[in-house]
Amino acid sequence: MDVPGFALITGAGSGMGRECAKTFARDGAAGVALLDINAAALEATKAEVEPLSMRKDFKILTHILDVSDEVQVNHVVQDTAQQFGRLDYVVNCAGIGHKHIGGAAFAETQDWQRVLDINLNGTFFVLRAATRIMLKQSPIKSTIDGRDLQRGSIVNFASVAGLTGIPMSTAYCASKHAVIGLTRTASEDYARQGIKINAVCPGYMRTPFTMGNPEIAKSLEERINFMTPLGRLGEPGEVADAVVYLSGGRSSYVVGSAMIVDGGYTER
Ligand SMILES: NC(=O)c1ccc[n+]([C@@H]2O[C@H](COP(=O)([O-])OP(=O)(O)OC[C@H]3O[C@@H](n4cnc5c(N)ncnc54)[C@H](O)[C@@H]3O)[C@@H](O)[C@H]2O)c1
Repeated sequence: MDVPGFALITGAGSGMGRECAKTFARDGAAGVALLDINAAALEATKAEVEPLSMRKDFKILTHILDVSDEVQVNHVVQDTAQQFGRLDYVVNCAGIGHKHIGGAAFAETQDWQRVLDINLNGTFFVLRAATRIMLKQSPIKSTIDGRDLQRGSIVNFASVAGLTGIPMSTAYCASKHAVIGLTRTASEDYARQGIKINAVCPGYMRTPFTMGNPEIAKSLEERINFMTPLGRLGEPGEVADAVVYLSGGRSSYVVGSAMIVDGGYTER
């Protein structure tokens, strides 16, 4: 996938963030920084990622981080760039969901706020800290054909909930629509300076996010056949492949996109 540089991934302790870290390592990244609010989950990811790299000089860092805390974010992103020497790929994967029983009319302000704080503000804080660093570094060259790659790339996790309405998901849908807006405007601001910013929109994926509650998991498995043309949940690696593609040299002309990886869910 042409990702010779250094990656930073939020939400790396679980699901798609963990899978992104594994894919960067397998595909030849020089190092990965794993960021998550859950310390034990970070250690588990680290143990899975480390053996996958073929590089003797592969670097792996872990940071416990709440993405909704802008002071922490600034510190951790700067520290990571300092330890690696540069920051090439940033994946904004940390996120939470919330169902408001009864919909918007009954949504609690604190639930709305928490979802927006993590999914939207967290993505913005990391993007802001990373672009400040990327703007100052020189572009790297493609390992495949020598073409000048970007100064850096950022992939933000939106969702099919950023493109459609989902019942009782007021805050979540609003946050993911906003992540696509943030991606588009930031990509406009920095495309000519060599910073490539895109979003990915997963459909229903098999991760603790969807499978954590056995009742919801069971009903989702039952409904998924009708919900998507492929008739199955997506696997986290299927989104990680899209993220690593959007991060690396093979997507050098892809800017401001919201790439859908949903088994056809939004096609219906
Ligand atoms: N699973 C799906 O079906 C699906 C579909 C579309 C989009 N998404 C999005 O993909 C992303 C990853 O989802 P997943 O399914 O891998 O979820 P997951 O629950 O498996 O992993 C999310 C990770 O984010 C971390 N996290 C939560 N709050 C945090 C915070 N404040 N600071 C730092 N880390 C925090 C968690 O500890 C966890 O490790 C999320 O943004 C989610 O909204 C998921």
